[in-house]
Amino acid sequence: MGFPHPSHPKETVVLSKYFGDAGARTHQGWVERGGYQALKKALGMTPDQIIEEVKASGLRGRGGAGFPTGLKWSFMPKGDGKPHFLVCNADESEPGTFKDREIMRWTPHALIEGCAVGAYAIGAERAYIYIRGEFTEPWAIMEKAVAEAYAAGTLGANAMGSGKRIDVVLHRGAGAYICGEETALMNSIEGKRGNPRIKPPFPAQAGLFALPTTINNVETLAAVPHILNRGAEWYKGLCLSSPKSTGTKLFSVCGHVQRPGNYEITMGTPMMTLIDEMCGGMKPGRTLKAVIPGGSSVPIMNAAEAKECLLDYEGVVAKGSMLGSAGMIVMDDSTDMVRMIMRLAKFYAHESCAQCTQCREGTAWTVKILERILAGEGEAKDLDLLMDLADNMTGKTICVLSDSCAAPVVSGIQKFRGEFEAYLSRRRAPAVA
Ligand SMILES: Cc1cc2nc3c(=O)[nH]c(=O)nc-3n(C[C@H](O)[C@H](O)[C@H](O)COP(=O)(O)O)c2cc1C
Ligand code: SF4
Repeated sequence: MGFPHPSHPKETVVLSKYFGDAGARTHQGWVERGGYQALKKALGMTPDQIIEEVKASGLRGRGGAGFPTGLKWSFMPKGDGKPHFLVCNADESEPGTFKDREIMRWTPHALIEGCAVGAYAIGAERAYIYIRGEFTEPWAIMEKAVAEAYAAGTLGANAMGSGKRIDVVLHRGAGAYICGEETALMNSIEGKRGNPRIKPPFPAQAGLFALPTTINNVETLAAVPHILNRGAEWYKGLCLSSPKSTGTKLFSVCGHVQRPGNYEITMGTPMMTLIDEMCGGMKPGRTLKAVIPGGSSVPIMNAAEAKECLLDYEGVVAKGSMLGSAGMIVMDDSTDMVRMIMRLAKFYAHESCAQCTQCREGTAWTVKILERILAGEGEAKDLDLLMDLADNMTGKTICVLSDSCAAPVVSGIQKFRGEFEAYLSRRRAPAVA
């Protein structure tokens, strides 16, 4: 549903069906709504059968990179005799993204069920759910739901009477954006500073506690029970454009639209159907200027690109950006693009873990240059300098936080150069950074 609004007829309500329904939060309520049937079914299947079903559904990771989920699960070693771990990434700190929070707030057992199925499929007896430190309400709801699932025998040494052990352990972050990066997250669970690790080794070889680990996003795991209940063919059929993008996707829409919120749509839905029809269009008297479609870490789209964009992994790439976490920041003609880009850069400079020179220095210098442009003290060479910096920040660091800072800067200069030049030529009055 378009929570907090009633669902729009053009939404495809699967994951968000019970958003706003407090009765779905309890174990009993979840069972009454058909919950834990998928886990029961999964425990009667072999792990390989589950992996094949998830592969056939076309489900791709909803945390940002869109990696095929079944394929990722199949990378886990078999018969190695070592403990395996599933880690659920519930850090959700990407600006503009607020969907995982709602899954945990309203349907905590959907996530627990998805984790339990995923853990069994990859040969893990334990799943960790790493929850963003600031998520006070989702944390309390998840804690209660996990306790209920143990009390009901759904989790534990004999999960659902199957004789198989499945534990779910909650771990609370301390409020660092970088801890959403999968290897930083594993360090954080281990009690270390949340710095990303160099890959390889990849988590499937040496992840949490140096043991085979799979990390998946909340929305990815919450989709898995639906695939088992209704079949891979059903999920694959939820597709309006590219066959490589299947299922439904939660879009967190914020910014200058009339009805911001979470909207669940079939992959391939036109962006303007979401903005104009579901979100009620732009604020009165305003026109669309730009959209950042995938959380703040992806290139900015101008209005012309947005108007032709189909919302799936391939459709967004075709219009010069990326689907990322599907946190959609919509901006109208009142937006000062230079100021907005500076604000994003400031976020990345603050959140850089500072291991890599290109990121530590690059994010800080980007902010300094943008601030001086805004203050009316920019120099003609500043745009070339920003582009050069961005080039040095892209594809050269341990993780992609550095690239994420560069992406809005490069696309902003390419698509809204006139606004930067207005400050540089003193045609525009200085703005407060
Ligand atoms: C700086 C940074 C922050 C990230 N934050 C998150 C996050 O909050 N939640 C998330 O699921 N993935 C996040 N990711 C992506 C994860 O590293 C990882 O790809 C994802 O959790 C894998 O799950 P999926 O395959 O289900 O998408 C982040 C990546 C980077 C580089
Ligand atoms: S790119 Fe930035 S955040 Fe990522 S590891 Fe390097 S310094 Fe840390």
